[in-house]
Amino acid sequence: MKTKSLLLSCLFLTASLAAQPKLSENNIPEVVKAMSAREKALLVVGFNNGCEGYTPGLPGTGGLTHPFPQYGIPSVVMMDGPVGVRLEADWNDGRGPVHFTTSFPTGLLTAASWDRDVAEKVGEGIGEETLSMGGDVILAPGMNLLRNPLNGRNFEYFSEDPLLSGSIAAAFINGVQRTGAGTSAKHFAANSQESNRLDGDSRMDTRTLRELYVRGFEICLRESEPWTVMASYNLLNGLYTQESHDLLTRILREDFGYKGLVVTDWTGKRNTPLQLHAGCDLFMGGMAVQTEHILASLEDGSLSPEDLDRAATKVLELVVKSASFRNQGLTPTLQPDLQAHAALVRSMAGEGMVLLKNDGTLPLSPSRVALFGVHSYSLIPGGNGAAYVSCPYVSQLDAALQEAGFVPDPTLEQLYRGYASFIEADVAFNHKVNVHVGKAQKEELEITRSLIEQAEKSADVAVITLGRTSGEARDRVLDKDFLLQENERTLLENVCEVFRAAGKKVVVVLNICGAVETASWNHLPDAILCAWLPGQEGGHAIADVLTGKVNPSGRLPMTFPVDYFDIAGAEDFPYNFISNKANESAVHPERRGLDPKNLTYTDYTEGIYVGYRHFLTRGKEVAYPFGFGLSYTSFAYSRPSVKQQGGQIVASVTVTNTGSVAGKEAVGLYVHAPLGHFSDKPERELRAFGKTGLLQPGESQVLTFSFPLKDLASFNAALSRWEVAKGKYSVHFGADCTRPAASLPLTIGRARNYPVNRACEPEKH
Ligand code: BGC
Repeated sequence: MKTKSLLLSCLFLTASLAAQPKLSENNIPEVVKAMSAREKALLVVGFNNGCEGYTPGLPGTGGLTHPFPQYGIPSVVMMDGPVGVRLEADWNDGRGPVHFTTSFPTGLLTAASWDRDVAEKVGEGIGEETLSMGGDVILAPGMNLLRNPLNGRNFEYFSEDPLLSGSIAAAFINGVQRTGAGTSAKHFAANSQESNRLDGDSRMDTRTLRELYVRGFEICLRESEPWTVMASYNLLNGLYTQESHDLLTRILREDFGYKGLVVTDWTGKRNTPLQLHAGCDLFMGGMAVQTEHILASLEDGSLSPEDLDRAATKVLELVVKSASFRNQGLTPTLQPDLQAHAALVRSMAGEGMVLLKNDGTLPLSPSRVALFGVHSYSLIPGGNGAAYVSCPYVSQLDAALQEAGFVPDPTLEQLYRGYASFIEADVAFNHKVNVHVGKAQKEELEITRSLIEQAEKSADVAVITLGRTSGEARDRVLDKDFLLQENERTLLENVCEVFRAAGKKVVVVLNICGAVETASWNHLPDAILCAWLPGQEGGHAIADVLTGKVNPSGRLPMTFPVDYFDIAGAEDFPYNFISNKANESAVHPERRGLDPKNLTYTDYTEGIYVGYRHFLTRGKEVAYPFGFGLSYTSFAYSRPSVKQQGGQIVASVTVTNTGSVAGKEAVGLYVHAPLGHFSDKPERELRAFGKTGLLQPGESQVLTFSFPLKDLASFNAALSRWEVAKGKYSVHFGADCTRPAASLPLTIGRARNYPVNRACEPEKH
């Protein structure tokens, strides 16, 4: 009897073991089939680190998926973010050890390199650190379009142009994924403002959506295969993107051919069955109530089991790719190669810094330098929020210049350093930071005219650093952020006046998170270097450029307008909205006495006329155009060629370094297209780009470009198709969109149409 029951229980155990297959790359359908509805409903709902007593990730980890040891399914560990691995922030004293990681150059700087190799190397460095810190997926790249210069997260993103954004994002993704870590192309889609970020409705016409706001993702998915795409918080034309079957299935999967997983941004809680049906596979920042909602909707028939199975399959496909699955039993080193990556940051930063003005002052030879501006001593390496990185140190400009043989004015150094540490101490003591607002920007110190005069006497040159930082959950504001502040202007004017009068030069360094107003003051200094938020090696990298050790080869990935109100749709952005609380949701701003316009909804009235598309077409003057950037050398273009070869456009141009120092040249290929059936098209659009290697004086390089004919198309919303018009095109070479260095005609003999799904039509308002 005893033997019989033992036999029976053995049989039962074998049967139940057989019913619980261990996950492998080849048996995902079998595992999905074996899992109960509850298990699958748990699998697709993740959780933040520290929840449910399960914390395999380090403090600060973005989130994890549910583990199922019985099926051999570990948690997938997801970490922020776009400019380096973000773990427990260094300002949270007493909340456990801080694990330092590298602060890489921010997205804008990476894009300003116009160089896929740079993006790939940055991605590779971040991928390596993700793995060494125990992560599987880095929640990056952020790639929303720079619709407006005031978006608080612009520094994480790449460009006002979808081709530059999409291609740089793809290169970043390829770099990360080569290391064995995964990525998350975010935030899909039309998430170009932070005010009311959880509930704001981005309203636009279909042509605008197709040509700009999903176009970057489309290009990115053509050139890379991100393991995940993150669905944004906002609504698009009246529907949460996370609930939009049109967006996540008809466009993302069917039109763009995306095969990976769709993860929700970190408030996965919308209408859960709708989200699943729309195409979300993984709910992050997940909540237990979502699992219950899934089960209840299965029960009442409002969710089909196929939708849940699809999502579970996608999660398991992600699991089998992850390092946590591949390296089960191994513990991460927790030792990123900080030294190697610091060197990488330093070498990459010069590639994306943009020289906006130089009357011959730069490069500087070692001399006595009067360094003004608090950010000369307290450089801003990166922004805040999900992209904040706790890095081991930040290289400062004063120290870096000293290393390079300069002698900074000791009085200024003492004054500014003291001021910077006072602010740091004040911020730490009064907890004036939080994860969303992040580290507050340091107000500029008022420096008396007599101090400037005193500094001039013992200096050969002046350098002024002006800083701007921003981050998640808040947009920048016009008055306090885009415009120069009164004390900054006074400082600039006084320093320029005093130094000019003495025949000495003044250099301005912009340590900024996005475009700022420059037109009213750029005549004052002799040189201006836009260094962006350059990462932890920023001081060294700026010094490398100022001294000519590195010839800057960055070109602007966005336009710097003369006046904020010159941009199209300037009024259709909360340009002076300051929320009271970080991350505050303004879903019903009316209840708080606020105007719902630009908060509850934002009308993208400018349509496709964002950035240079607007300025070029309308012939409006700008401070610095898209693609602008000077060099310490000069370049000549010759032998341009372009032809249609079947379904491809093939072009080339020879670039020669005609100056006296080595340098790199970024080249944009812009196309002016005939109207075809359209009543309007932008004057010129970027259709390809590339960059030379380091050309020695006299050296030439042929740059070749090849892209699908389809890329010349505009989107006909009435017929849901891309249309390439027949007729005469002109092709322009040169990074600066306003000043082609070489141009050629191109004739397309036959019109072509490329139909897509009808999707995401705007609601009638
Ligand atoms: C941000 C995402 C980020 C996520 C996880 C969200 O608030 O919008 O960019 O990846 O949090 O931290």
